[in-house]
Parts: sequence; C-alpha cells; structure tokens
Amino acid sequence: MTSVQHSSEPAPAAAFPAGFRWGAATAAYQIEGAAAEDGRGPSIWDTFCRIPGKVLGGDTGDVAVDHYHRFREDVALMADLGLNAYRFSIAWPRVQPSGAGAVNEAGLDFYKRLVDALLEAGVEPWPTLYHWDLPQPLEDAGGWPERDTAHRFADFADTVHAALGDRVRQWMTINEPWCAAFLGYASGEHAPGRREPAAALRAAHHLMLGHGLAVEAMRARRPDNRFGAAVNLYAVSPASQAEADLDAARRIDGMQNRFFLDPLLRGSYPADVLTDLEGLKFEEAIRDGDLAVINQPIDQLGINYYSRFTVSGTPGDAAQAVSSPFSSHSPWVGSEFVRFVDTGRPVTGMGWEIYERGLYEILVRLHREYPPVALYITENGAGYDEPPNGDAPLNDADRIAYLEGHLRACHDAIAEGVPLRGYFTWSLLDNFEWAWGYSKRFGLVHVDYATQRRMPKESARWYSGVIRQGGLPERR
Ligand code: FCB
Repeated sequence: MTSVQHSSEPAPAAAFPAGFRWGAATAAYQIEGAAAEDGRGPSIWDTFCRIPGKVLGGDTGDVAVDHYHRFREDVALMADLGLNAYRFSIAWPRVQPSGAGAVNEAGLDFYKRLVDALLEAGVEPWPTLYHWDLPQPLEDAGGWPERDTAHRFADFADTVHAALGDRVRQWMTINEPWCAAFLGYASGEHAPGRREPAAALRAAHHLMLGHGLAVEAMRARRPDNRFGAAVNLYAVSPASQAEADLDAARRIDGMQNRFFLDPLLRGSYPADVLTDLEGLKFEEAIRDGDLAVINQPIDQLGINYYSRFTVSGTPGDAAQAVSSPFSSHSPWVGSEFVRFVDTGRPVTGMGWEIYERGLYEILVRLHREYPPVALYITENGAGYDEPPNGDAPLNDADRIAYLEGHLRACHDAIAEGVPLRGYFTWSLLDNFEWAWGYSKRFGLVHVDYATQRRMPKESARWYSGVIRQGGLPERR
C-alpha cells in the first residue's frame, strides 16, 4: 500500500507512518437492511428488535441505510474520502441462514460483489466475521453459552474464507466479545436479551474459542492471510487511591480488558478474575486445550476504544451498589462491589466521557505488558443526536475535536514505539445504533433515513484532509 501523502501538501505536524491504514468501520446489521432478501434468515437482532421496549422507538435493522442495495454508492463515497481500508462485517444469517450446513450462495454473492467493488476502488477490504448477528436457530439451540456454537462459527468462517480468501487478505473474527457476551447474556440490553451471568461467562469463553477455531481453519487454507480479533477496551481509573477504589478498578479492568486480552495473548485467564468469579462455575466451561486454541498466534489485534470508566469501591454496602453506565442490571459480574463515578468531564451524545489519553494508555500498556502484536484501532468515534441540516454539510465540530484528540493519542503512542498500523473510525455512515435505534448518529456521512440520501458532514472533509496529508495539522 502506498502512502496517501500528496507531494503538493504541506508536511503535517504529526505525520503517520507510510502504509498506515486509514479506514472507517461499519457492521452488517447496522447498515445493510434487506433483512428478508435473497434468502437471509433471521438473526437474534431481528428477534430482539421486535420485543417491545428493547430498542428505542421500536426501531429495527429491516431497512437500516439500505447498504445492501446502495453499496456501490457507498464504496464511491469511501474512494472520494480517500480511505485506503474499509472494515465491514459479514452477516452469518445471510450466508448460512440456519447457522449450520447449507450455504446460501445469493448471500455470499453480495459479499463477493462488495469486495470486488472495494478492490476496484483501491480500498482494502477488512471483513469481520461476527458482529453480533447470530442466526436465530443457533440461539434457539442455546446460543453462545453452548459450546457447539463455537464450532458452528468456525465452520461459517471457513465457508466465507473459502469463497473470499483469494481476494481478501485481512480477516477479523469476532467483534467485541465483551458486548456480545455480557450485554447479550448478563444485562440483557443487547440481543438475545438474557440475564444469566453464569451463561454470559460461558458465552465469552465460547466466543474466544470460536475465534481460535476460526483462525485455525482459515490459516490452514491460506497461511499468508492475516488474522485477528477486535476487542473493546476501556481506560479504567480508581476514583481515589483508597484501597476499596483501587480494588474496584482492578475488578472492572479485569472483567472488561484482561478477561479477553490474557487468554488471547497469553493463553490464560487472569487469576484474580477467576477468584472473583468463584461460585459461577466458570472454569467448568474450560476444557483441556481450549486456551491453546484461543492463544494461537494472531497477526493483529483490533482495539475498539471510546471512553473511560472511573470507579469506586462500595465495601460492605451493597445497597448503593451497581449504577453502571449501561443499566441498573449490570453486565459486570461482581459489580455489587463497584460504583461508577461521574467525573464531570465532557461527554459525547452517548454520555460517554471523552478521554483521549486513555487510548494512549491502553496502547502503551499493550505494547509493554503483552507479547508483541501489530495493533489497529478498529473503532473510535463519537455519537450525537444530530438534527437534520437541510442541504448543507453538518458542522459536526464536536466529532472533529473527538477524532483529532484520539488521533493525536495514536500518534503519541506510535512515537513511543507502539506498533499501531491503522485507524478505522466508527462510522462511515449514520446507522442503526443497537438498543439506541436510529436516535444516535456516529457517521462521517449523514444519512436521511426517509430518502436514504447520503451527505458528508464536515468531519468527513476533515478526515479526508488528514488522510491526504498523511497526518494531523498543527494543533489548533
Ligand atoms: C461498538 C460497536 C459498534 C457501534 C459502536 C458505537 O460497541 O462495536 O457496532 O455500535 O459501539
């Protein structure tokens, strides 16, 4: 891949390395629509959206931003922006509607067309194989808490890889196993909406096992392809240096970050977290050899970063327990010992604290404390309630400031020697934001949901300029 810096542009104050991937990310259920077309079967999100009260406004991904039909226009947008990489996900229920066995060739064809259009436009395809849309028949059989789902996932990954591995070099297996397991099976805020903490832990293990099995299968076919997974990491700070607060931070960092990083990169679960989880029979889900499968070498780790948690301990006071940023029904097992503290710092429209330093801290920590692996920011962005803006590009200055701050954090980390190789902003287009429906917009490109008209925001122009210059301008 060649550098995108144009010789006529002034040298940027914070230049990124040549070959850096500048991308944007999306996910199938959030943008594709065409939920019942060409043989696609239902996923757990199709089912969940239909349960009253689960998704704001009763919104669904039935139509979303109609990317299934408009992908050529969307690829042209990417090329206009100058993106050299695009992260999207492949809908399992489109390719294998029953979650096992028979392949729906029409579904697979969509991704062949998409990949060909990307390659033609000079945009490198970065598919993710699981971004939360489990085929409903697999949930009916028990879902991710069932070990067999990991094997079904590896089969699906193998099928897609057999069809696209000649054209696609970069593969991500699972997206944010923390969300899929804990929001899906512990707090119930995401599909399938179950509230079973012990099952959620098994789901997390099986998601990671599925990742490992999928990498094994795909790498056997094409050892020259590059494989990894995307995890959502948070900065975690104790509210004070008091012992109880430090312990709360240890717990949340343990469940949110180390519970995934340690098995993937070191081949073991963190001992302190296993102690916290005693009583939930988690270790019964782990079979001999599982950790070696999960820990097999990966070529890259994707980091999705949005925010920080500041926590304090609530020793012996379960009464004022649990008020997590997600809900009163906490996805963190053991959160009765933790209170989430409002720091009073600026937040995005999601209520998520803006803390770019946290991204730097996470990158440096990964570099210093874990075995070496190439890193990519696979998601980072800001969501707001944005009013329609008529025919003019929306002046989304808050989003520009958010992206600039986080890109500076990336640059600082690279200067420290962190092997950060690319950055994908979330998201290319406004889209279906899970339990928030269409109420929150994350796109560089505004979408009018009534007409499906795409209109780049000021942030799109700004990001495009960063890419063209190969880095950030002088501090404003
Ligand atoms: C992440 C998800 C992504 C998007 C962003 C805002 O947790 O991976 O699909 O919804 O949050």
